[in-house]
This record gives sequence, structure tokens and C-alpha cells, in this order.
Amino acid sequence: TAIKFSRRYGKTISQNKNIIVSFNHAFHGRSLGALSATPNPKYQDPFTPLLPGFKHFPYNDIEAAKKNIDENVCGVIVEVVQGEGGLNPAKKEFIQYLRKRCDEVNALLIIDEIQTGVGRTGKLYAHQYYDITPDIFTLAKPLGGGIPIGATILSEKVAKTIKPGDHGTTFGGNSLATHVGAVVFETINKPQFLAEISDKGDYLRKSLVEATKGSKLVKEVRGLGLMVGVALDEKVTPAAVADVCRQQGLLVITCGMNTLRLLPPLIITKDEIDHAVSIISKSIKYLEDKL
Ligand SMILES: Cc1ncc(COP(=O)(O)O)c(C=O)c1O
Repeated sequence: TAIKFSRRYGKTISQNKNIIVSFNHAFHGRSLGALSATPNPKYQDPFTPLLPGFKHFPYNDIEAAKKNIDENVCGVIVEVVQGEGGLNPAKKEFIQYLRKRCDEVNALLIIDEIQTGVGRTGKLYAHQYYDITPDIFTLAKPLGGGIPIGATILSEKVAKTIKPGDHGTTFGGNSLATHVGAVVFETINKPQFLAEISDKGDYLRKSLVEATKGSKLVKEVRGLGLMVGVALDEKVTPAAVADVCRQQGLLVITCGMNTLRLLPPLIITKDEIDHAVSIISKSIKYLEDKL
């Protein structure tokens, strides 16, 4: 939707204003439009040819953005913390530069908050850490508390270019999902709930650092709120660690080349964090002892 609406906006200015820019290691989804903005051969190759008019450049590289975002660009889509790509937070100057450059060339800045949005990082939206206002942002994962729902939030200037019938989908806006989404949103959007996410995220990272102190396999623990990555040495794959964790009843996923990704439920308790950290550190130790 964000991609379509950027194209729609571009067409109100010029027929040539149709380029969508995304960044290396981005993940924006598996529909053909979102996949075209996801420059990762693992996801793209089975489905080529993709849509025309997509370009991608290095993440966190202001010079590349300056050179490549021009008047033909209608939308720049970016995650402020790359999830699938390896738990990589954007530099504040980079996101702020994208905002400035988009304004200069009249392109839309789209923040993909499908993974980072609705509390995950300890703020309602992760872009709030960057002191910018996007033209469009997308939400999904936590919004329905398990019921499938996604939302695309538009600024007034974008909304004005869309009229009824331009966009729609069979189950879009259905009353069950929107009602659940509204309740979940109200629950999460409370200062106390968000503060607890930040606090539990800090606790999780600190506990992981302490529990893996001295491990040759753990290179770094990073993240924002309850979006946490454990970067591992190349002697072990994150998939191997995830497998050992799963055998002990803990579900974790991998991301990037060498990172274990933790996205616990936002209602996790500190006792549950202690339990998870103990499983993760023991699993890493088990694999380390086998080297
Ligand atoms: C940043 C981001 N955007 C979009 C998506 C949506 O992906 P999909 O189309 O596979 O649901 C995801 C899913 O992980 C994501 O992390």
C-alpha cells in the first residue's frame, strides 16, 4: 500500500516521478511490490522478474543517499531498525538526512514499522527516537495481538491524493480485526506499558551480557526495547543456537548473517526473561563446548 500510494503521489507531480528507493539488507515483505523493495536474492530470486522502478543503496550512507535520491524518486522506504537484515539500528543523522533529502526532491519518506511499531522498541513508534515525521508509515505484527491486521498511516498531503476505490482489499477494514486492533492499540499506547517495555528490554540485554560473559561465541548484544539481537561469532550459526533453544522450549529466530533475534511478547515478565536468558546462555555454552 505504501508503495502504491507513493507512486500515486509521484504521478500527481510528474509521470517520471515513480522510483522507489530502499536500502541494502532491508526487508519489506513478500508481496511482489514489497519484495521488489527487498534487495535480498534469497527472497527475490525465486520470483523474478520483479517490478520496475526500484533502486537500492547502502544503509546508513548519507553520501549515497545524497547522490541517488533525486527528483524522479517518489518514495524512500526504510526501517529505522532493520529486523530481518540483522538487527541494525539506523544512525540518527541518516534518518534525519533522508527526511531532509525527501523534502528537497518532494519524495515521500516511508518508515516501515511492521516489526518496530506499536511498542516493540519501548516507544509507540520507533521513528520517535529519530525526531522526524514520516509521510507514510506501516504497522502490522503486534497490532492485532495475533489477529491479522496491517495499517498504513498517511500524512494529509498523501491522503489527499487517494480517492475511494483507488485501493482496497477483500478483507481490509473488517470489523473483527479492526476492533481487536483498536483494543490492542489502546492497551499498548499507555506511558506505563511502554516504559515497562523499555525497562524489560534493558533488563533482557543486561542479563544476556552477564550470562554470556566470557563466551567466545557472543560478540555483541544490541537492540532497542524488546527487539534484541545477539551477534555471534562465525564459528557457530544462529540457526544452530535457535535449534538448541527450541529443544528446550524457547522460540527464537535468526536474522542477518550471524545474529540471533529475540522478539518476546510485550507482556513478558522478568521471571520469564530470566528463564529465557538461562536457556540461551546454556545453549550457547553447549555449542561452545562442542567446538
Ligand atoms: C520490516 C518488515 N516489513 C514488512 C514485513 C512483512 O512481511 P510479509 O509480507 O512477509 O508479511 C516484515 C515481516 O517480517 C518486516 O519485518
